[in-house]
Amino acid sequence: MSDKDEVQYSTAQPVVERPSFWSRVGAHFKKWWWAHFIVFAIVVLVITLPLVYVGYPKIAQHDVNKSTLNITNLAFSDPTPTSIHINQTQVLGNKAIYHPTIYAFNATIALVGATAPLAVVPVPRTETNDGAVIVVDSNLDLNNTEAVTNFSMAVLGLEEFQLNIYGRPVLKEGPLPKHTVTYNKTVTMKGLNGLKGFELQDIKISLTPGADGTNMNGTVFIPNPSAITVSMGNVTLDVSVNNTQIGQSYLNDLTLRPGPNTIPLRSTINQTQVIGLVSGKNAPFPSGIIPLSILGNSSVYNGVEIPYYSRALAMNPLETTMNVTQVLINSGLGALAGVL
Ligand SMILES: *[C@@H]1O[C@H](CO)[C@@H](O)[C@H](O)[C@H]1NC(C)=O
Ligand SMILES: *[C@@H]1O[C@H](CO)[C@@H](O)[C@H](O)[C@H]1NC(C)=O
Ligand SMILES: *[C@@H]1O[C@H](CO)[C@@H](O)[C@H](O)[C@H]1NC(C)=O
Ligand SMILES: *[C@@H]1O[C@H](CO)[C@@H](O)[C@H](O)[C@H]1NC(C)=O
Ligand SMILES: *[C@@H]1O[C@H](CO)[C@@H](O)[C@H](O)[C@H]1NC(C)=O
Ligand SMILES: *[C@@H]1O[C@H](CO)[C@@H](O)[C@H](O)[C@H]1NC(C)=O
Ligand SMILES: *[C@@H]1O[C@H](CO)[C@@H](O)[C@H](O)[C@H]1NC(C)=O
Ligand SMILES: *[C@@H]1O[C@H](CO)[C@@H](O)[C@H](O)[C@H]1NC(C)=O
Ligand SMILES: *[C@@H]1O[C@H](CO)[C@@H](O)[C@H](O)[C@H]1NC(C)=O
Ligand SMILES: *[C@@H]1O[C@H](CO)[C@@H](O)[C@H](O)[C@H]1NC(C)=O
Ligand SMILES: *[C@@H]1O[C@H](CO)[C@@H](O)[C@H](O)[C@H]1NC(C)=O
Ligand SMILES: *[C@@H]1O[C@H](CO)[C@@H](O)[C@H](O)[C@H]1NC(C)=O
Repeated sequence: MSDKDEVQYSTAQPVVERPSFWSRVGAHFKKWWWAHFIVFAIVVLVITLPLVYVGYPKIAQHDVNKSTLNITNLAFSDPTPTSIHINQTQVLGNKAIYHPTIYAFNATIALVGATAPLAVVPVPRTETNDGAVIVVDSNLDLNNTEAVTNFSMAVLGLEEFQLNIYGRPVLKEGPLPKHTVTYNKTVTMKGLNGLKGFELQDIKISLTPGADGTNMNGTVFIPNPSAITVSMGNVTLDVSVNNTQIGQSYLNDLTLRPGPNTIPLRSTINQTQVIGLVSGKNAPFPSGIIPLSILGNSSVYNGVEIPYYSRALAMNPLETTMNVTQVLINSGLGALAGVL
């Protein structure tokens, strides 16, 4: 029995000694690890390469498309016929989970619908967090006078205009490779709306011209509903009544800032003509209220005419009225007002 037992025992022995499933697996891997590693590496690459080189660029472009841009401040200064300085502050909106770095790039800006771009703007490197503030403070070359004139007319004359910003920046997210995306945004901005609300205030005349030849002064009130600041230099305006020019007004160092603007005004007015308009038997405006048409004549900055501002001002007629009786009273010439 014991022999049999032994035999039985010994027959069971090989079963016990046979390598377990796991040890067989272990042995297999010891021998074939490199083949498994290659398969694993291929699987990883097959999954990650499309993600990195196809999926990620798509996500990156999608996020760039979805981002928003608000121009909160745009100041034009130091104009010359072929260049201008801009100081532009914009706020980036990015609700995506990725906040890649966008490297500095040159963006082309154009009025939507224009046949030629306005300028090339150097956009600095940006970390694209939601609410990131991007400041562009730079001199721009203005090569296309027609494009700049159209742009100036839109800024001055329209309630709203659309600006397109286009570029091909390189972006980088964490350890992922650099990738070039298309940045193509159209931003709607408020314009100066034709200087609507323009008013003459506290107008005074003197019967003898001052040292600079002017014989009328006062202030002009110009509301600016936009976020745009524009420095137009020394502006000359032609003043007419019923299509007959009666004089010129000068706004020195005119800078229109966002919000209400109160600007000193000096004018040379033909007083003989004005008196003829309001007094006498055939006076066309016996009430003493004369309708004025004011039209841009020129914008001169540092002694150089700025054609795009001159054109834009000339295309934007301003209509207002002047109470001649009130002007005479303002000027201490109330006695004359009684005569009218
Ligand atoms: C991004 O927008 C452009 C149009 O501006 C479109 O052609 C492109 O398919 C968009 N890409 C993605 C990934 O959404
Ligand atoms: C640009 O505009 C910003 C915001 O208005 C202002 O803080 C900054 O001083 C301006 N820079 C220059 C050079 O005028
Ligand atoms: C941009 O302006 C719009 C409308 O004024 C506003 O709803 C949005 O929150 C602004 N986005 C950013 C990033 O400031
Ligand atoms: C932008 O353009 C200017 C002039 O063409 C060039 O010198 C500059 O390197 C460009 N910047 C970038 C970031 O490409
Ligand atoms: C400027 O505006 C005129 C009239 O709208 C248009 O015919 C012309 O193509 C515009 N020029 C540019 C450069 O966009
Ligand atoms: C404007 O002209 C200058 C020099 O002629 C050139 O370097 C620049 O690239 C031009 N810019 C545009 C927007 O055509
Ligand atoms: C930018 O996108 C608009 C429409 O989304 C398209 O009409 C325009 O051609 C694009 N600009 C460029 C330079 O591709
Ligand atoms: C404006 O004109 C009045 C009347 O001629 C004169 O008294 C006043 O000094 C002038 N004001 C300025 C700022 O020139
Ligand atoms: C002012 O107008 C009168 C009448 O139209 C004209 O005779 C006179 O020459 C004008 N004076 C000046 C300085 O233009
Ligand atoms: C305006 O001028 C025209 C001729 O140029 C004249 O017929 C008309 O009566 C004038 N209107 C007024 C209000 O003076
Ligand atoms: C405007 O004219 C005044 C006096 O002629 C001059 O001192 C000033 O520099 C001019 N301003 C500009 C921006 O050219
Ligand atoms: C013009 O001014 C006079 C004097 O201040 C005033 O009596 C008159 O009502 C004013 N006319 C108008 C239409 O405002």
